[in-house]
Amino acid sequence: MLNSETVVGVCGAGAMGAGIAQVAAQAGHRVIVLDQDEAALGRGRDGIAQGLAGQVKRGKLTEEESSAIQRRLSWTMDVGALSPCGLVIEAIVENPAVKTKLFQSLEAVTDANAVLATNTSSLSVTEIAKGLARPAHFLGLHFFNPAPVMKLVEVISGAQTDPKIAAESFALMQRWGKLAASARDVPGFIVNRVARPYYSEGWRALEEGAADAATIDFLYRDLAGFRMGPLELGDVIGHDINYTAAKTIFDAYGGKTRFKPSPLQAEHLAKKQLGRKTGRGVYDYAEGAAKPAMRFAETDSPLADDGIVFMQSDGRTAKAVSESTGKPAAVFDFATPAATAIAFAPSSDEARRAAITHAARAGKKAVELADRPGLLVFRTLLQLANAAGDAAADDVASPEAIDLALLNGVNYPFGPLQWANEHSLPRVVAALNAIADATGDAMYRPSSYFVEKAGQA
Ligand code: NAI
Repeated sequence: MLNSETVVGVCGAGAMGAGIAQVAAQAGHRVIVLDQDEAALGRGRDGIAQGLAGQVKRGKLTEEESSAIQRRLSWTMDVGALSPCGLVIEAIVENPAVKTKLFQSLEAVTDANAVLATNTSSLSVTEIAKGLARPAHFLGLHFFNPAPVMKLVEVISGAQTDPKIAAESFALMQRWGKLAASARDVPGFIVNRVARPYYSEGWRALEEGAADAATIDFLYRDLAGFRMGPLELGDVIGHDINYTAAKTIFDAYGGKTRFKPSPLQAEHLAKKQLGRKTGRGVYDYAEGAAKPAMRFAETDSPLADDGIVFMQSDGRTAKAVSESTGKPAAVFDFATPAATAIAFAPSSDEARRAAITHAARAGKKAVELADRPGLLVFRTLLQLANAAGDAAADDVASPEAIDLALLNGVNYPFGPLQWANEHSLPRVVAALNAIADATGDAMYRPSSYFVEKAGQA
């Protein structure tokens, strides 16, 4: 039975392990942290002290509470020291053989009722469990980085996990102040599977010259309220990690995904332009490097919109709309009311001047995009919804848990399924079909989840 008296073991004192140990100690548990590297234990301890000092500074914690939390933590290089643990969460190197070996030693030292969990991002829980004596007591508890800040924990049952153990672990995560989401043991679980089109659509837009990088990132932030654009976010994550995650999931699903790993991102990898950590990624972080500038559209000859078709993107290009109506057309990207910009693609110079005039009258900046099916942000939101719809259709998690996971695991401004519902499912289906027709790319075909629901609507 997992309760506040349970001693929690954490294996690995790195980025994730230290964060998870802090969360458990802050929830009142005695916590024992194991690492094979003494220096890593020291860094973990210092990192937690710093994190707690920050909370004291912000008035979220008293000095006394911070000291009590740190006293609940102990640090070891000896697996035997984890014998009192009723729950052990593993966050060591992402290598199945090394993980299995550690879990076997943990099974040897802990009580038969102890729950063992892995924080793996990419390995199968069921596969790791195959090497274990008590697979019913083993599951995935997938935290997000930084663990003390990010609310989500995916709770993953392997084929042999006892449902009671999964339910107890789920309840414990909630008592730790986390938002728990149950997920099936599929590659990427919920978030790392559903979020992939966010990055790939940003890269594809850059590859196709939809706009320059800074303008692309700006539009994701401004039009939809994402905290960071996909390219700048990739620079933070590191393109080696981000590209490998994409490639691993693409391969695991045999290419049947809503994204393709980006050849341009692969080029950055080959050139060792991995992002902030190497001083150069999509952007240049060298001292004195020019700040990336957004490009806004302007016109010297404003034009009224009489006789020009203005419409929100329905997946068709402005050229296609113009051909079907016989009039010049400007097609607009998705935008929330809070957006400061309007992004559009025109079919002609007249339509361009009219769209810029329209933006100026609305008090917004104008951004001209290349005339691509579904434009930029709209296409990305559609494809995120598609990936979420597939996950729901595959029973990876409930539709509510999928939205919750994206809102809290990667801080999206809205859940993809809720967004699709609010946008209207028949329109989502039609727009995805229009993009698939115009690009000739079947990965944009609407998920069966939406086709069925739209049919019922
Ligand atoms: P990290 O490299 O920062 O830390 C790993 C730690 O484990 C190191 O201190 C290393 O000395 C220690 N270690 C390695 N082998 C060991 C062993 N056999 N016994 C004891 N200690 C050992 O790695 P990070 O980023 O914390 O990742 C850990 C796990 O968490 C991986 O499975 C990763 O896939 C997963 N994960 C990582 C996330 C991230 O954003 N970094 C997010 C969610 C999960």
